[in-house]
Amino acid sequence: MPAESSNMTVSSAPGKVYLFGEHAVVYGEPAVPCAIERRATVSVETREDSRVRVSAPDLSLDGFTVEYGGNGDERPDVNVSEGLVEAGIEYIDVAVEQARDAANAPNAGFDVTVESDIPLGAGLGSSAAVVVASIDAATRELGHPLDPEELAARAYRAEYEVQDGQASRADTFCCAVGGAVRVEGDDCQHIDAPSLPFVVGFDGGAGDTGKLVAGVRSLRDEYDFAADTVESIGDLVRRGESVLAEADPTDHPPEDVLAELGRLMDFDHGLLEALGVSSRTLDNMVWAAREAGAHGAKLTGAGGGGCIVALDETAETETALRYTAECEDVFRAELARDGVRVEDE
Ligand code: MEV
Repeated sequence: MPAESSNMTVSSAPGKVYLFGEHAVVYGEPAVPCAIERRATVSVETREDSRVRVSAPDLSLDGFTVEYGGNGDERPDVNVSEGLVEAGIEYIDVAVEQARDAANAPNAGFDVTVESDIPLGAGLGSSAAVVVASIDAATRELGHPLDPEELAARAYRAEYEVQDGQASRADTFCCAVGGAVRVEGDDCQHIDAPSLPFVVGFDGGAGDTGKLVAGVRSLRDEYDFAADTVESIGDLVRRGESVLAEADPTDHPPEDVLAELGRLMDFDHGLLEALGVSSRTLDNMVWAAREAGAHGAKLTGAGGGGCIVALDETAETETALRYTAECEDVFRAELARDGVRVEDE
């Protein structure tokens, strides 16, 4: 039965940085990601047939538009990097499947447009933001809106599928509910946090999350001290949480809170480096931030390339990163208090 046509629905979802805990969260340790004001915006309109047409004008420099039957047997005919198209389509494909399932509309077809100012695969949760915003817009478009918790659970299932089981709930939960969150296994909670002075440096590259997670897993299986390293990340996250809990969430964080959070971020980066998920460009940006007087700096997300996050309320880290050869872009990232939200068309 053809889906009913209706007006377009537009949802957006924020990216995130990890204050602490990426990788270790995959093994049940706690992590604290924080949503940031960089968003993926997804517009969805139902079609009269069951096909899916995806247009992503700025997902890469070239962008792409593809139309497919949604049954996996057709590959798009486009002239941008196959890997990028495959990755983008896979995430949207699984999001569409989740939306069809949630709304009990297995044959619904959609025109989907994705716009995003979150660099792809760079540790800022671009895929989670696209998946969360897509499921939200598509389910609303089908007249079956989901609450943020169910949305997060479905987005997690979608990411889990694309990343071959190498995913925690952290990215998708943070992106769905916004603000700072704490994730430990299946337990996901919003936590109070002051507005932290995040500065993000981006090396222009991307890491392969599935491969990086698999690399940590094999180190952890092979060496007890790698397993201990993962547990140490959990210990420092617990310490970081108690520092956050003592800070007044309505005020700017005092110097001693920033100093302690920064020290823990530096420690976390060192442990991630030991687990083999940093890179020369990430390390160089981390050192540039530290030498500029940042309270602390670390890679964010899966690593391998992409972004670092530093804490600095002054302009020094931004300036230093701007003059760092490995850094392609630098920006301040405000904590996004809103998670997924409906946007005006
Ligand atoms: C990737 O953004 C964060 C990882 O911890 C993987 C995950 O939590 O799904 C590396």
